[in-house]
This record gives sequence, C-alpha cells and structure tokens, in this order.
Amino acid sequence: MKSEDRSTDRASRGPAGLRAGLTSYGDDGFSLFLRRAFIKGAGYSDDALERPIIGIATAISDYNPCHGANPGLVAAVRRGVMLAGGLPMEFPTVSVHESFSSPTSMLLRNLMSMDVEEMIRAQPMDAVVLVGGCDKTVPAQLMGAASAERPTIQLVSGAMLTGTHRGGRVGACTDCRAFWGRHRAGTLDPGEIDEVNSALVGSAGTCSVMGTASTMACVAEALGIALLGSAAPPAVTAARLRVGEATGAAAVDLARAGTPIKQIITADSIENAARVVFAIGGSTNAIIHLTAIAGRLGIPLALDDIDRWARDTPVLVDLKPAGEGYMEDFHRAGGLVTVLHEISDLLHLNVLTVTGRSLGDELERARPVRSSTVVRPRTTPLFTDGGIAVLRGNLAPRGAIIKQVAASPELLCVTGRAVPFDGVEDLASRIDDPELDVRPEDILVLRGAGPVGAPGMPEAGYIPIPRRLAERGVTDMVRISDARMSGTAAGTIVLHITPEAAVGGPLALVRHGDLITLDVPARRLTLDVSEEELDRRRSELHADRQPVASRGYRRLYVERRSQAVEASSESISTNTSAGVLYPSIRRGRVL
Ligand code: FES
Repeated sequence: MKSEDRSTDRASRGPAGLRAGLTSYGDDGFSLFLRRAFIKGAGYSDDALERPIIGIATAISDYNPCHGANPGLVAAVRRGVMLAGGLPMEFPTVSVHESFSSPTSMLLRNLMSMDVEEMIRAQPMDAVVLVGGCDKTVPAQLMGAASAERPTIQLVSGAMLTGTHRGGRVGACTDCRAFWGRHRAGTLDPGEIDEVNSALVGSAGTCSVMGTASTMACVAEALGIALLGSAAPPAVTAARLRVGEATGAAAVDLARAGTPIKQIITADSIENAARVVFAIGGSTNAIIHLTAIAGRLGIPLALDDIDRWARDTPVLVDLKPAGEGYMEDFHRAGGLVTVLHEISDLLHLNVLTVTGRSLGDELERARPVRSSTVVRPRTTPLFTDGGIAVLRGNLAPRGAIIKQVAASPELLCVTGRAVPFDGVEDLASRIDDPELDVRPEDILVLRGAGPVGAPGMPEAGYIPIPRRLAERGVTDMVRISDARMSGTAAGTIVLHITPEAAVGGPLALVRHGDLITLDVPARRLTLDVSEEELDRRRSELHADRQPVASRGYRRLYVERRSQAVEASSESISTNTSAGVLYPSIRRGRVL
C-alpha cells in the first residue's frame, strides 16, 4: 500500500480536535461553545485547544502495583506530545491487576476493553496513547481501541527490576512459584518464605520474566502498534521514559496522518506477532488475547495456523519460565529488535507500523545486539520446534495447547492414570489429602475451570504437585485442564481444553483411574476409554454445570462468553474466550 493511500484525507475524516464527537444538545454550535467554556475553566488557552488532541488512556490504580511507575511515564508522554505540537489529555480507565482481581482477572478483561472502547469513542481525541502493562491490560486496551477505530499507539509500562535473596537474583513470578513449591515440599528453611516474599518484586513494573505481560509487550511491538524497541526497557529506567516521550511525539504524527488501527493490525501483522510469541518462548495466554484482538478487526486466527507457524519458528529467547534470564537481561540484549532481526525471513516486513514506515524500514534503522546468550542466534536455538503446540484428540476435539518449551521433555509422550478434580474448590480441598490416590506417573485433571465453568477461566491450570509427592521430590507431573495458566509458570501442563467440561466437553467424562495419553510430538491428547463407555457416561451427565449471574457485567459475561481456543474463522461470535463479547452487545443481541 502506498503511503498516500494509508492516510485518509483530513477533510474526509470529519471534525477534528475539540470539534469531534460533540455532546448531543440538538445545537452543535452550543455544544462546542459549552465544551470550550468548561475546558477553558481548567486553564487551557485557545492556542492549546487548536492543537491535535492526543488522548492518553491510563490505568493507574493503587490496586495495580504493576502500573506504579506509570505516572512518571505518562508525564513523559505528555512532554512528547507537547514537543510535537499536540495537546495531551489524560483519562482514566478500569485497571486490572492479577493478584487483586477476584475471582480472576480474565473475567474483567472485557469489562476493561468496553471501558477503553467507549471512552475513546465518547471523548474528542485525534489519536490515543494506551498506557499499561499488567497481563490483561494490553489485550483489553488493544481490543477496545480496535473497536473504537481511532488512530492508536500502545505504550507498555515496562518490567519490574529483579530482587536479591541470599545472594541470588529473584523475580516475579516464576521464582514465586518455585519458592512456594519448595515451601510446600518442606525443603525451605523455616522463615525463608517470608524473607523471599520481600525480595521477589524489586520495583514497580510488570513481572520480570517472559510471562503474559512481557509477551504482550512484545506482541504490541511486533504488531507495529507500539514503537520498535519499546517492549523491553524496564519500568523504572531512563530508557523507559525516553520511550514514553518518543511515543507521545509519534502519536501527534499519527493523529496528523489519521492512520486507522485496522491499517496497522492486519492478518500479516497478526502472523508476525504470533511468530514472535513462539520465538520469545512466550505465554500461552497470548494465543487467547491475540485471537480476541484479531477478532475485533474481523481477522480469523485458527489453531491450525498457530500450530503451523509454531512448528517452523524456533525459540530464541532464554528467559524464565522457559529459560534462565529476566526482562532486564532481554533489554540489555537489544530486546525484541534482536529477535526480529534473527527471524526476519519468517516475517511480513512490508506491514505498516505506527510511524508510517514499514516494519522492514524500522528494522533497518534499529541495531540488533549480536553478542548475547539471552537472544540466541538461529543456529543455536533454545528449542527448535516452536514453543507452543496445539493438541487434538478425543479429549480435546476442538483443541488444546501446551507450552512444550517449558515442559519436562521426558513427560511429553506418556500414558498415565487420571486423577480428576471438579473445579478449583475441589482441587484446593483434596490435592493435599494424605488419602488421595495419586502417584508421580499419574495425570492430574482439572475441569470446570474454563470460560464458562469457573466462570472467567482462572489461571488454575498450574495444578500444584500433591504435597505428599512434592515431599518425595516430585517437581513435575502431567497436568491437563480447561483452565489457563500464568505466563510465568512452567511444567508439563495442557491448557484451554475445548470444549470445556461445563459445556459437556469430554473432560467431564474422565473418571479416576482412566488412562490418558499425551503425545506432543504427534499433537495428540486422548482418553483411552471406548466410545460406548463414553456415550454411557455422557448420558449420565448433569446439565447444571453452568454458573448463573443475576445482573450487571457478570450476567453479561455468563450469557455471552465463548470457548477458549475457538477459531475466529468459523464465525466472529465463536471467537476466543469472550474475545468478541462486546461486539455482540453492540450488535444489539444483549442490550
Ligand atoms: Fe502484573 Fe504480573 S502481576 S504483570
């Protein structure tokens, strides 16, 4: 596409700046008169009010320490906007933190996306900068902005710094899980669990490993909706603030060009982002979020595409939970720029980015760091066969996924006895029961934890090793579920089994002692029980597994959510994990 075609003619875009989206009084002149009167009351001059308006969507909250450094970052964005001749206008949105959202943050992702969408649409702005970073924030912001169809640029918060515990480096939250596992196994010094608790989170910022937040930061950069080089600088560094200033300036240019988000996020840039998820050993949650973002723009993303791209994209980034390093190491290794240079032959380099230049042009301007062990060269990848694999079989007829790069190699092809749990409460009450019939070679099964069953699809797929086995030194077992898993977790863990148990998926038919076969090289997950027996069990299933909600957003969620790994190519209304919940509402099918 030629650059002159990319920018819509200013006149054809309708009113800009303060004149856009006037409040309905039946008299546009009066609406603008009133709007100007109020904003002048806040001290703005006529000169300021004639500038391109750059909305800055913040998600700052005392309940969200991952965004604790965002006030300084937003100040840098404001500076960049003003240096480029624009007028910055901050506005708050819902803020969702992983550890402060009950019952689970995923339930609230679409609430946040609805907020972002409507606040962008309702208020006058010629472009919007989305500032945030905690796991659900970037997905929610991009989903909302995609639906609002305004020129958009993403700015992530940046990762936290690591801490020090007894001479060793620690960071949230892969190490949180490792230390908690040792605590459960009784192998930690008494009192040490409290000591490490104070060291795990070294500063404000998002989790310090390649978890979901870091993965989505890289996704935004790979999509071209964030500046190249913007994903990796840690939250509390000068580099992060300079990225903020540059993003503010770029937003003014973007507003002047009027480039709509659908010209940036396209089928090709979605493929680029998916390949980046695999190359960085990224979070399984990114598949859910990327499908939902694509769904907002009507771009189909099928599990078969995911598996095909994953198979020929090597894992190059050696960060926890798949490897050893932390995000600050990734930053020193050149961040995503180095990765993009390494896999450039797998990318669509002609896609447009927010600067108005192509990804290829941007990469030519950016220097990679070639001397690092954190980003491996293509000749010595961390893992050759894609970080994530898509499984199918009679236990997952419509698909499931496993992060094979973070699994135990010896457990990737096994048959074991099923030990099932019905929901997170049952899991919590029985997993450490000394009478539980469980052996190290068994397969732990959690059901009733999908988008419908929980509801909200909590990160319960990281089923703890039963204490009795942990005390014997067992550190990994095959675990399967219709839940999600934190991007910071590791283990041989099958997730997002679809259809989930709560809607009658085969996971609901598993009984204690059944044999289950996991064969990742063959991409298979099977329940080794005859079809006749499964039919008999199916006829005995109760139809009361689905939760109900009487009112409000929860009712909306319960009525409109969809399955976890559905391909959006089937229909926009069967997209991922409530990813298209809100477009359905806007089409008038709920409200
Ligand atoms: Fe916010 Fe991990 S809890 S990024």
